[in-house]
Amino acid sequence: MHTPVTPPLSVLAQRRLSRRNVLAGGLATAAATFFGAACAPGDGGPAVPAALLGFPAVAPSVADEVVLPPGYRYQVLFAWGDPIVPSGPAFREDAGNSAAEQSLQAGDHHDGMWFFPLEGRRAGLLCVNHEATTEDLLHADGRAAWTPEKTAKSQAAHGVSVIEVEQDGEGRWHVVESGHARRITMTTPAEITGPVAGHPLLRTGADPEGVRVLGTLNNCASGPTPWDTYLTCEETFNKYFYYGEQPPPAGSAQERYGVGSEDSYPWYTTDARFDMRAEPNEYHRFGWVVEIDPFDAAAAPKKRTALGRMEHENAVVVPGGRGEAVVYMGDDTQFEHFYKFVGAEPIESALAAGRSPLDEGTLHVARLEEDGSGRWLPLVHGQPGLTAADGFADQADVLVRTRMAAAAVGATPMDRPEWCTVQPGTGAVFFTCTNNTARTESVDAANPRLDNRFGHIIKIDEGGDPSATSFTWDVFLLAGDTASGATVPADQAFGSPDGLWFDREGRLWIQTDGTQPTVNGAEQNNQMLTADTATGDIRRFLVGPPRSEITGITADPDGRSLFVNIQHPGDSGTPEDPRAGSNWPDFSATGRPRSATIVITREDGGVVGG
Ligand code: FEO
Ligand code: CA
Ligand code: CA
Ligand code: CA
Repeated sequence: MHTPVTPPLSVLAQRRLSRRNVLAGGLATAAATFFGAACAPGDGGPAVPAALLGFPAVAPSVADEVVLPPGYRYQVLFAWGDPIVPSGPAFREDAGNSAAEQSLQAGDHHDGMWFFPLEGRRAGLLCVNHEATTEDLLHADGRAAWTPEKTAKSQAAHGVSVIEVEQDGEGRWHVVESGHARRITMTTPAEITGPVAGHPLLRTGADPEGVRVLGTLNNCASGPTPWDTYLTCEETFNKYFYYGEQPPPAGSAQERYGVGSEDSYPWYTTDARFDMRAEPNEYHRFGWVVEIDPFDAAAAPKKRTALGRMEHENAVVVPGGRGEAVVYMGDDTQFEHFYKFVGAEPIESALAAGRSPLDEGTLHVARLEEDGSGRWLPLVHGQPGLTAADGFADQADVLVRTRMAAAAVGATPMDRPEWCTVQPGTGAVFFTCTNNTARTESVDAANPRLDNRFGHIIKIDEGGDPSATSFTWDVFLLAGDTASGATVPADQAFGSPDGLWFDREGRLWIQTDGTQPTVNGAEQNNQMLTADTATGDIRRFLVGPPRSEITGITADPDGRSLFVNIQHPGDSGTPEDPRAGSNWPDFSATGRPRSATIVITREDGGVVGG
C-alpha cells in the first residue's frame, strides 16, 4: 500500500479568490492578488509558511528545447520507438519498424503515467499512457496508401507501456530488462467488469457475451490506486469509429459522444470493428477507466464500467470516510462534467473478498450552484430523470450513456474538464477547465468567461469528507493574460491548463496543452508551472518544444527525480513536411520529432521544485 505523506500544508490558511470578485468585475483586483494572497502586507494574516518554491521562474520560450530553471537538468528516458527492454527491437529513424516491432516498443503521444517504487532499490515500474499517434511520422510514407499493416502499427502505438527503470550511481535513469515489462495495445485482450459487463449494448459479433474486448485506446491521463494498480483513462475514443457518410441524428447518443467527425482515424478502412455500419456496439466498449496491475504482467486489463463512459481525462482515487474507494474524474469535451464515484464497501473488505473496490458503487455528477454551493447528483436508474419513462432502460444504459444521464439530472456543463487532483492535508479537489471557445452565449459562476480561450481552475471543498454529497466551490484561478481577465501575474501568464498534480510536499504542478497568451508581446510554447497555494506564488518551471503538449507527471519516492512527458513535439508539422515543427529530442538531420518521457533532476540532488 502507498503511505500518504502529510505535507506541511496543514498550516495552510486558504483565502480563496471570491467568486463575487470575479463576477462583479473585480478582475483587475483579482489579477493583482492572484488567488487571494494569503499574506497581504499589513493584513495581520497568518504566518508565512516556509517557501515551497525554491527556483527562479524561467522566461517564456519558443525554442526547440526543454527549458528548465538554472541548476536543473533533464534526460530523455523513453521516447516513441524505444524498446521496452534493452534487448527489444531498436527504433528506426526512418519509421521502418514493423507493427510487430512497434508492439515491443514505446508507443506514441506519451500522456499520463505513474511511478511504482520497487523495494530496496532505486528502481520502479513506470506505467506510461500512449494517447494517440501522429500517422505522418509513424509510417515511412505517412498516411499515404493505407494498409492493414499501417492499421496494425497504429494500433500497436496506442495503449500503455509498463517498463522497469533504475537509477545509477550518477543519478541517471535507465530502462532495464524486466519480467514486468509489457505493452498493452489495441489488440491486448481486456475484461469488462462492473454493472455493464455482459449487457446487450456491449455484445458484438466477436464477443457475443459482451465481457471481453480487444485493447484500450486514446489512453489520456491516469491515476494510481491505493492498492498499487494503475488506472488508464480512455478519452477521445469516438475519433476511431466511422459512423457513415451522414452524421448521427441530432440528439442521439452517437452525436453526443461525437462519432462520425471528419478527422477520424482510417482504421475502419481495414478493420471492420471500427466501422459502425458493420459493428454498432464496438464503440460502447471504449470510453472507460481501465485498471492495470503493473506487478502482474499476465493480468488482463479490466474496464471498470461502474465509473461511467465518457471522454475520460484522469482518475484520482482516495479513501472515503468508510474506507471505500472515491474516484474523481473529468469528461474532456466542451460543456461536459465533473464526476465522482463512491464505492459500496471498504477497499480492504472488497480486496479481501476478491472483489474490485471499483465495481460496485454510485457514480455522481457535479452541479455547481451560483452561490458557491454544490451537490454530487447520483446517477442511479429509477431516480427522477433516469427512469424507463425517461428513456433509460436500466443501470447499464445509464452508465453507457453517462453524458445523457448527467444532463438529465441537471449537471453543470463545464469548460472542458481535464485533470483533477486532491490536495494533501485538506482533501480539496482541483479541476482544470482547459478552455471553451464555444461558450458564446452565456456564462455562469463556474464558467465565468465568454469565448474562454485560456481556461480556469475550479476548487471543490468537501469539508475533508470525500464521501460527501454536497460541497462548496470557488474559482481557484483564471488563466490567460491581463486583457482576458486572468488572475495570475502577467509575467507568469499561461493558458489551457490540463495536467494538474500535487506533489508530496504540497506544490501544485500545472501543465498546459493549447493556446498560450503572449508575455510582453513574446510568444510561448506549452509549459509547466508550480504554485504554492498558501502564498499565491506561481512560477514557470518548464517550457517545451514547439507544438508539444506537457503532460504526465510523477516522481520517485523522495521527489528528487520528476518524470514528465513531452507529447507530440512539432505536432504533425506541416502537410509538406511533417517534421517541420520540431526536431526534439534527437536533433538528427533525418530524424523525426518524438514524444518522450523525460526525467528532471537537480544538479545538487535536491527535491525538484524545492
Ligand atoms: Fe488527452 Fe483531454 O487530454
Ligand atoms: Ca489532457
Ligand atoms: Ca488538452
Ligand atoms: Ca494530447
